[in-house]
Amino acid sequence: MANNVTVKQSPMQGKGVFASKHFDKGDFVLTIDDSHVVTDETKLTPEQHAFDLDYLADRTIVMQSPEKFINHSCDPNVYVKTENNLRNIYAMREIAEGDEITYDYSVNGDNDGTFQCHCGSKNCRKTYQGNFFKLPTHLQLHYLPYLDTWFLDKHKTEIEALSKQA
Ligand SMILES: C[S@@+](CC[C@H](N)C(=O)[O-])C[C@H]1O[C@@H](n2cnc3c(N)ncnc32)[C@H](O)[C@@H]1O
Ligand SMILES: [Zn+2]
Repeated sequence: MANNVTVKQSPMQGKGVFASKHFDKGDFVLTIDDSHVVTDETKLTPEQHAFDLDYLADRTIVMQSPEKFINHSCDPNVYVKTENNLRNIYAMREIAEGDEITYDYSVNGDNDGTFQCHCGSKNCRKTYQGNFFKLPTHLQLHYLPYLDTWFLDKHKTEIEALSKQA
């Protein structure tokens, strides 16, 4: 995994994660380290609170490097799939060596986070918001195959309603 990506300054914001090799569509990129579960929020630093938390269905994780530096893009090139209790990241399409690795934070998102997006893609939504179900319907349908299993389980009713529109 360490050979697959590099962390360095990103044109989007702060640091980002970049491909150290070429990936074909469907290739494995890295496994997220979910071992740092938050048990006591008062013990977190302000930085961890602001930037490092990942909210899953039943637990909150303090993200580790390199995945904590993966930026959001409105035209992402990776997605997350939980397999055997591991969250693996796969290429959504071909990724050239040196490209920034990005996912769309709204996928598997059910929070009210927001920021001005600097992803620079043609279809940039400009203002990122963290609730999947507030995305335009065509985007929700586009991302349907990329939703992770815990999110599908947690939002069964909404997903069933969405699937009927496909
Ligand atoms: C998990 S961090 C990603 C790594 C971050 N660049 C860093 O250096 O720590 C998430 C934060 O990065 C920033 N960010 C991620 N993607 C962005 C984008 N496309 N445009 C602007 N800011 C972004 C936002 O402030 C967001 O809350
Ligand atoms: Zn964007």
